[in-house]
Amino acid sequence: MGTLARPLAIVTGASSGIGLELAKHCARGGYDLLIAADTDIEEAAQQLRPFGATVEPLLVDLAKREGVDRLYDAIQGRPVAALLANAGVGLGRAFLDQDWEQIKFLIDTNVTGTLYLIHRVGRDMRSRGEGKILITGSIAGFMPGTYQAVYNGTKALLDSFSFALRAELKDSGVTVTCLMPGVTESEFFERADLMDTKYGVQKKQPASEVAKVGYEAMLRGDGEVISGWQNKLRAAIASVTPAGLLAEQHRRLAGPGTANR
Ligand SMILES: NC(=O)c1ccc[n+]([C@@H]2O[C@H](COP(=O)([O-])OP(=O)(O)OC[C@H]3O[C@@H](n4cnc5c(N)ncnc54)[C@H](OP(=O)(O)O)[C@@H]3O)[C@@H](O)[C@H]2O)c1
Repeated sequence: MGTLARPLAIVTGASSGIGLELAKHCARGGYDLLIAADTDIEEAAQQLRPFGATVEPLLVDLAKREGVDRLYDAIQGRPVAALLANAGVGLGRAFLDQDWEQIKFLIDTNVTGTLYLIHRVGRDMRSRGEGKILITGSIAGFMPGTYQAVYNGTKALLDSFSFALRAELKDSGVTVTCLMPGVTESEFFERADLMDTKYGVQKKQPASEVAKVGYEAMLRGDGEVISGWQNKLRAAIASVTPAGLLAEQHRRLAGPGTANR
C-alpha cells in the first residue's frame, strides 16, 4: 500500500521569528514544506525535519521578481494547500535619513514580492477550487508609523489587501487570513535598526504564540486574527483615534533614542 502524500505548504521568511514558528506548526500539522528566506534557510530545514515533514529549503530574494519566479518554479506544478506569505522587513529612523536602497528593498519584499507570489500561487488555488493563504500583516497597519513610516504603510496595504482578496475569493474554496501581530520577539527590531527605541526594548510577545494563533486562524479560514488581547485593545483604540494623534504616539515608541526615556 502506498503512503498518502502530505499536503504542501509554502512558508516565506521561515528562517527565523514568526515564519520559523509558522513552519513548525505546518510540519506538526501534517504538511510537507517548501520554505524560503534570503540569507540562511538550511538551519531552519534541519529544525523542521524531525517533525516528520519533507522540507525543501530555498534561498531566494523575494524582493526580486526572479526570486519569486524561482520559488514558484520549485513548486513544480504540485498543488499548494497553504501559502503562508510571511517574509518581511522593517526599517527605523526618519524617512529622509533612510537609505533609498533599503526603502526600496522593504517595499519590494513586503509588498511587490508578497503580492506577486500570492498572484501566481493564488491563481492555481482558484483553478483547483481550494487552498489557504495566510498573509502576515501587522497592527502597525492601523497607525501612521512615525520613524517607521514606510514599513507601517506596507503593512496597511497588506492588511487592506488581505480583506479585499478574501472578499473576491468568497465561495471559491480559497480562504485568505490576515495575521496581525503586535510587537513580537524576533530578529526584526535589530535588523530594522530599532534597538535604541522603546519598540526595540519593550517586552514582546513570543513568536511561537503569535504563530500559533495565526496557524489556527488559517486552518479555520478566519478573515483575520490579532495576536494577544493587548494588541486587540491597541487595534481597537487605533481605529477610533485621529491619525495625527497616532502619528505623535508612534514618535514616542519608534523615535531614535527613546529606549530609555
Ligand atoms: N516582530 C514583530 O514585532 C512583527 C510585528 C508585526 C508583524 N511582523 C511581521 O512578521 C513577519 C516576520 O517577521 P519576524 O518578526 O519574524 O522577523 P525576522 O525574524 O527578521 O524574520 C523575517 C524573515 O523574512 C525573511 N526575509 C526578509 N526579507 C526577505 C527577502 N527579500 N527575501 C526572502 N526572505 C526575506 C528573513 O529571511 P533571512 O533571515 O534569510 O533574511 C526571515 O526569514 C514580517 O512580515 C514582519 O513584518 C513582525
